[in-house]
Parts: sequence; C-alpha cells; structure tokens
Amino acid sequence: MPTLAERDHAILWHPYTQMQTAALPIPIVRGQGAWLYAEDGTAYLDGISSWWVNLHGHAHPHIAERVAEQLRTLEHVLFAGFTHPAAVELAEKLLAILPDNQGRIFYSDNGSTAVEVALKMALQFFFNQEQPRRTIVAFRDSYHGDTFGAMAVSSRGAFTAPFAPLLFDVAFIDVPVPGREADTLAQLEAIAAQGDVAAFVFEPLLLGTAGMLTYSPAILDELIRCCHRHGILAIADEVMTGFGRTGQLFASHYLMERPDMVCLSKGLTGGTMALGVTSCTAAVYEAFLSDDRMKTFFHGHSYTANPIACAAGLASMDLLLSTDCQASLARIALTHKQFAQEITGQPGIRDVRHLGTVLAIEFAVGEHTTYFSGLRDQLYNLALARRVILRPLGNIMYLMPPYCTTDAELALLYDVLRDMHQLVLTNQ
Ligand SMILES: Cc1ncc(COP(=O)(O)O)c(C=O)c1O
Repeated sequence: MPTLAERDHAILWHPYTQMQTAALPIPIVRGQGAWLYAEDGTAYLDGISSWWVNLHGHAHPHIAERVAEQLRTLEHVLFAGFTHPAAVELAEKLLAILPDNQGRIFYSDNGSTAVEVALKMALQFFFNQEQPRRTIVAFRDSYHGDTFGAMAVSSRGAFTAPFAPLLFDVAFIDVPVPGREADTLAQLEAIAAQGDVAAFVFEPLLLGTAGMLTYSPAILDELIRCCHRHGILAIADEVMTGFGRTGQLFASHYLMERPDMVCLSKGLTGGTMALGVTSCTAAVYEAFLSDDRMKTFFHGHSYTANPIACAAGLASMDLLLSTDCQASLARIALTHKQFAQEITGQPGIRDVRHLGTVLAIEFAVGEHTTYFSGLRDQLYNLALARRVILRPLGNIMYLMPPYCTTDAELALLYDVLRDMHQLVLTNQ
C-alpha cells in the first residue's frame, strides 16, 4: 500500500520544487497553534507561518466557527450585480484600519492578483483621463508575485528568466538600503521627470523574498512625495507586511505620506482562505465613473469576494484587533530584538535585521547572498531535523512566526538559529 507521500509523488507537482531531486513531501494531517502534525505524529513548529499567511495559529477555533457558520449560510455568489454581508462588513472593517485616504475595496483571489489589479487600475486611471502613461517603477530586488504583470514588476533573475522577453518593460530603481537612500531618490526623480510614469509599486519597509531587506520610513516618505509631485500613483504592496507583521497593523502606518493603493492578501484571512484585496483612494475610483462604458474596470475572478474567505477575514480581524493579539505582537518584537542584539556582530554573521515579528540573519558565506547558495539545503534540513519549519532564502535565515507563538516556542526557534550559526562557523 503506497503512503500518502508516495501517492502525492506519483501525481502531484509542487510549487518552487525541483521534482526530480526533491525529498518526498511531509504529509501534514492536523494543525494546532503554531504546530503542524505529520501523519506519523511528529510535530513541527511553523516558524514561517506557512509561507507568511498564518496569524493566529492553525485551525483556530474562532475562525473555524465563523467559517462553518458561513458555509452553512451562503458558500458563494457571483459578485457582479450581487453582494453579501461578509464582503461589505470586511470592506468596512478594512477601510477603518487602512491609511485614512483609502476609500474603495476591490476583491480578488491572492497576492499576485491584488498586484495585477493595482497595476491595471493605475494604467487605466490615466487611460480613462485620456492622458495615457505606460511606465511602472519598482525596486530592482522586489517580489510581487508569479502572474505575468506581478512578475514583470519583480526582480528579474532565475525565476523570471524563461519569460524575460515577454515581460513588459519596467523602470527599476535600487532598494534604498541604509546609506543608499539619496541614490534611490535621484533615480526616481530622473525617471519621474520623463512624465510617463503611471505608478510606483513597492513593498513598504521590508522586502520579503529579496531576503527580508529593510529600509527606512523616512526615505519611503520622500519617494512617495516625489511620486505625488509628478502625479504618479504610489502602490503599497502590503501582501506580506499587512496585518501586524511589521509591528503596526500596516507598514504604511509608519509613514507620514499615504499610498494611493494598497495590495493585501496572505494574513487577510488569518491564513485560512485565499483572498486578495486592492484598495484605492476616491480619486482613483472616480476616474472610472462615466457614462462611457469603456471606462469600466473590466476585471474580475469567478471567486471574487468569496463569502467563506470574507468570513475567515472577519474572524481573523476580531482576533487581530484584540488586546491579547496586540500584546503578542509587541512581545515577539521585543524578544526578536533581544536575540538580534545577542547575535549581531558575531563571526559568521553578515547582517541581522528585524522589524516587528520578522527577524532575519544573513550568514557570511561567499561574497554575495544567492537563492541557490549550497548552504540553503543544509540549513533547511537542520531545521527539519529539529522539527522546525524554516525556509532559508539562500544564506539568509528568517523567522516569521504566527502571533500565538509562545516564549518557549520562540526560544526553540532561536536555538535552531544558534545551531545554524555553529554549522556556518564549522563550514568555514
Ligand atoms: C510582497 C508580496 N507581494 C505579492 C506576493 C504574491 O502573493 P501570492 O503568493 O498570494 O500570489 C507575495 C508572496 O510572497 C509577496 O510577498
């Protein structure tokens, strides 16, 4: 009798996985709190919130109840010409916590589609005003998703190479890492001055896939101000940074300036269901209002505003805004800071970065950090052997635990990082 993993291996194709060499997948049958339980009973601590989606722990009873109730009431209805309570209520709640210039919510299915929607809205915003602009500006090392538009505005490299000739041209500027802020601003000023830029899309303050790179709110404020001087729409991709990850509900809350659009997904449903949101200002929305039907935003997905996903979003929001959860965010940020202080400056460590519930350690291996670093698999396997799920980005290790992670569980994660540090030192 083949095992579940063997049955999987015979017919499934997994994301970001070289199927020829990959180990058999680990069959997970249950989740509770920050733990995932395998078929054989082994418990794994989820140190990266299952690809950054989970906020409150797995199979959370409050979310489960709310989703079950929704499932028994209304599972789905098309969202053109119809609406339903969960979609309206979630939009109201989101607008109450998003930057206060946001006035409209457009639903889609995931992070990539939230970005696609933002890009299309921005381009059509200018088209509708008969002043078309076609340039999009993005950070050179950014990641905005895997669909074509999102890929086009993401870092060009190994992931995008097979499609390179088909990706539209994007004006890339450097990430304004500390010390390089003035260069980035000058690059944006020069491109903006050409007059054809529709939008600047960015991961605010924390670039996830690039290796948890951080930059300051002050320079992002300057970049957004530059956009606004030139009539360029600023798109904050908060797919990863949203819902408390950076210590504030949104990374945009660290800013003085406000983005014109915000993309959300991942933590939007507490990690329960796929759902995407693109919010925009009234000014963006109004550019689509017309007697001319050609000015309509012709975009939608079959599962737009799925009621079950919206219900999960509402339940997750209840938990997120509770004082318990807010206290956990502060607790995790503080413990990360203490560990960062312990490890910063030690041999074998190139850099330590932390923001809110995210902590990243860049090990000093080779001259550069690359996704295909040989160290990557060693670090990944070390974590798994310790029953901890961590996925290195090359020689960068990061923690992004669910907010319910206890101090004892955090201590286990730091212990695994200490072991990894030893491994790096031994390899040298
Ligand atoms: C900043 C950012 N934008 C967009 C995406 C794409 O989201 P999804 O994987 O849901 O398509 C991701 C995914 O990691 C992300 O980190």
